[in-house]
Amino acid sequence: MRILLLGSGGREHALAWKIAQSPLTDMLLIAPGNGGTRHLGTNLDISLQDFRAITEAVLEYSIDLVIVGPEQPLVDGIKDHFAADNRLGSLLVLGPDKAGAALEGSKDFAKAFMQRHGIPTATYRRFASDEFNAAVGYLETIPPPYVLKADGLAAGKGVIICNDLGTARENLYDMLIGGRFGAAGKKVVIEAFLDGIELSVFVLTDGHSYRLLPAAKDYKRIGEGDTGPNTGGMGTVSPVPFASTAFMDKVEKRIIQPTIEGLRDEGIDYRGFIFFGLMNVKGEPFVIEYNVRLGDPEAESILPRISGDLVPLMVAAAAGDLGALPLDTDDRTAVTVMLVSGGYPGPYTSGKIISGLEDVSGSLIFHAGTGMDKDGQVVSQGGRVLAVTSLGNTLSDCMQQVYHDILQVSFEGMGYRKDIGQDLLPYFGAMNQS
Ligand code: AMP
Ligand code: GLY
Repeated sequence: MRILLLGSGGREHALAWKIAQSPLTDMLLIAPGNGGTRHLGTNLDISLQDFRAITEAVLEYSIDLVIVGPEQPLVDGIKDHFAADNRLGSLLVLGPDKAGAALEGSKDFAKAFMQRHGIPTATYRRFASDEFNAAVGYLETIPPPYVLKADGLAAGKGVIICNDLGTARENLYDMLIGGRFGAAGKKVVIEAFLDGIELSVFVLTDGHSYRLLPAAKDYKRIGEGDTGPNTGGMGTVSPVPFASTAFMDKVEKRIIQPTIEGLRDEGIDYRGFIFFGLMNVKGEPFVIEYNVRLGDPEAESILPRISGDLVPLMVAAAAGDLGALPLDTDDRTAVTVMLVSGGYPGPYTSGKIISGLEDVSGSLIFHAGTGMDKDGQVVSQGGRVLAVTSLGNTLSDCMQQVYHDILQVSFEGMGYRKDIGQDLLPYFGAMNQS
């Protein structure tokens, strides 16, 4: 099997690491890849916006399977682009077409889809740029906090939560009229605030059936104790102790199954990963958002917990028939901690030499934003630089190991949260006692 993986983050390094272990993998290309993926395959210097160059690479290397890591090319219609090219008749693609990718690409579409299919989510209204007054009128009828969401992709920054009406009105004005978030903010979804605990649930689907992947908890805020601005994700823990069997049964029956059936009923042949961003509100699951890919850094925690070969499953899902293939998970716990550049999530420093990577032996290191300087040294190149993952029998073992290993690694300005997993220790204690 000759595989082309698209993307350049920690998620793609983790995917490349998993794919490279498969005996089915004869060739692995990563476009554009990063400083970590180049040890697992060949990086191709191609932009993800350049569908023509990607197609040329597929033809030149006789690629059998393309795996799309991030959402942007899917929302931009890369699958439709391949499908329209008759030279690529037998190419398998893991990831939805443009219609399916709208689950992530348009909050308005996602909310209306959930409403059509009776999938639990926060109540909402959608407003266009000429409806500012009506939107303010709606805000006045609902209690704070106010949740405002730009309709389109806004690099993970399109959700604003405001505690008072004045701030909500200002933000709404900026989005609908002021052009903040550009075209993505021309429509805004205003929805009820859900008070609960978040978790990320993933499936791999062939459009009919699905396999559940391990769930994870993401730590989104920059600061310890979940304070400060949102980031792309500062760390993850898998499994999620509050995702009990009873809770996950509700998730499958009320959310996952109706989503997959709903897609099929609407004529969307969805083959790929679906990421359900959920809120557990007193034991009841609600969808906060859909993503059409694996999470990052969730992937760095959940892929190491898949014990078998994932390649046959990805091939089968892309071919539209998962058949009876099992997806086996490892009972151990995984903790991932992100090492980030000084200043992140604001303007950050870059190009800093990273030392100590070779001294880490107890954890996996996935590169998220790294490159090489002219002397061949690994340097930081992005806000999120490295993901360090430890697998262990208990959460506290993992936390000890990962934080011990992080001490070996350094670059100027490096930051990380020291409390990943801390809030979950009491739950794990309760599980061990029961
Ligand atoms: P998103 O970009 O959709 O992942 O949203 C960013 C974050 O905003 C989520 O991870 C939640 O923490 C929060 N959020 C989004 N929607 C809601 C909601 N309806 N109620 C409470 N928090 C929310
Ligand atoms: N970690 C959240 C995301 O990938 O969207």
